[in-house]
Amino acid sequence: MQKPTVLVTRRWPAAVEQQLAETYNVELNRTDRPLTSAEFRDAILRYDAVLPTVTDKIGPQALDVSKPRTKIFANYGVGYSHIDLESAKSHGIAITNTPDVLSECTADLAMTLMLMVARRASDGERELRSGAWDGWRPTHLIGTKVSGKTLGIVGFGRIGQEMARRAHHGFGMDIVVYNRSPVRPDVLAQYNATQVSTIEELLPQCDFVSLHCPGGEANTKLINSQRLDLMKPDAILINTARGEVVDEAALAQSLQYETIGGAALDVFEREPAINPVLAQCENVVMLPHLGSATREARQAMGFRVLDNLNDFFEGRAPRDRVA
Ligand code: DGY
Repeated sequence: MQKPTVLVTRRWPAAVEQQLAETYNVELNRTDRPLTSAEFRDAILRYDAVLPTVTDKIGPQALDVSKPRTKIFANYGVGYSHIDLESAKSHGIAITNTPDVLSECTADLAMTLMLMVARRASDGERELRSGAWDGWRPTHLIGTKVSGKTLGIVGFGRIGQEMARRAHHGFGMDIVVYNRSPVRPDVLAQYNATQVSTIEELLPQCDFVSLHCPGGEANTKLINSQRLDLMKPDAILINTARGEVVDEAALAQSLQYETIGGAALDVFEREPAINPVLAQCENVVMLPHLGSATREARQAMGFRVLDNLNDFFEGRAPRDRVA
């Protein structure tokens, strides 16, 4: 039997590319250049499987073909709001993602961001590297204490829970949770967390608010100016979820007028473009979408795609099928 043909849209960890090449008739993207919509349309006419990632916008345009050959988008990444589910469904294309294997590393990065913004780590490093540091003094670069404060978590899936574990057990923080569906009491009990039924109820209670919900239309601008106004004046917003979840213009305004204490962002509405007003704000820490960027997570994500692909082509239900 002929091996299925597979297109990988970006460079992946070498061990995974090698394994893919042994198992499938694979086309790797050695240049790492993102594909255009036209190249996507061509790809879904030519390959049995396309392996996209979170920066590949697979909208209705890219899927505007009459008879695709592709039967599965085995996505490298947990988020899949970049894929137009309706169009994929209309072609009968299955979609899988890569949950679990990046939860710890993404929560580690959310903690990193929370500590960086609270303790003014970026300000300090910039000052030191520019040669402007003139020594210790009692009033120098004063930040905010993290330990023992209240953390609000929006979206209590795997990553949200890993964040709660670190914050509660490592930093003694009180955890308040907003989640679309009720969280099992035994899960909440692991972090001594309280679930509230609206975001409006969560925001005024929290010193830090960390977003861990999915992106996509349903959550676009979930954090808007009205909700930002509900945060405490010194509270800090952390976003490692998806850029579209926060109304960036509204956030930039809250930061400019200091109606909140600060923000720490790993994801942006129009990545890699950064809102110029936001870029001017002093009280924000920004990283270039590094949530899962560890050797361990990125390799595990690749092998998880491979598992999904093997299941699919060997006639089993892929464990991470999301559509
Ligand atoms: C994802 O997987 O959705 C992240 O944003 C990249 O790891």
